[in-house]
Amino acid sequence: MALVALISGRGSNMRALVEAGLPVSAVISNVAGAQGLEFARSRGIATKVLEHRKFASRDAFDAALAAEIDAFAPRLVALAGFMRVLGAAFVQRYEGRLLNIHPALLPSFPGLDTHAKALAAGVKLHGCTVHFVTAEVDHGPIVIQAAVRVRAGDSPESLAARVLAQEHIVYPRAARWFLDGRLLRQNGVVTVKGNDAQLVVSPD
Ligand code: GAR
Repeated sequence: MALVALISGRGSNMRALVEAGLPVSAVISNVAGAQGLEFARSRGIATKVLEHRKFASRDAFDAALAAEIDAFAPRLVALAGFMRVLGAAFVQRYEGRLLNIHPALLPSFPGLDTHAKALAAGVKLHGCTVHFVTAEVDHGPIVIQAAVRVRAGDSPESLAARVLAQEHIVYPRAARWFLDGRLLRQNGVVTVKGNDAQLVVSPD
């Protein structure tokens, strides 16, 4: 099978994967009312809800999540706005086939509120990153980045909207590369067989 996406909310990145024709076999959320679940259902994609609150520990949640994922035997697990930190054992289990999208040009601005942090830092270039997940949150070998110009007068919301449009371009591209077996990892650096561009610079 192909790809399982993990979401916590809106699910627009998951939707971008589906709409780009990627074979999403299941969508799993740690939040019962996650908006993205509705879209997945409307496309006939299997959905599962596994509320982390109902588990006694992070490890117990991670183990249950892994069991749900493995039931679909995916080649790729894509974190798509999954706002729950995953433990080392989980990360190790899916090492090399776990991707995340983060709304900043890593290694700048890991964590939350990336757009506000970018504005506060006065950076002139911001963006998003698709990376392999490692034990350290919002780190790991970079597959592709998209850059957007920071405009005078930007608010976190206006900047987020321009970055999100790029997220929807680069995540499907990265997932496709992965499933086509085109990603090579060496010493923490990812290259793409065929030398496709791993940087998108938005004209906006
Ligand atoms: C996206 O901007 C994604 O990059 C971010 O959450 C948003 C989810 O939106 N992820 C993170 O911050 C992970 N560290 P979506 O649910 O519409 O895809």
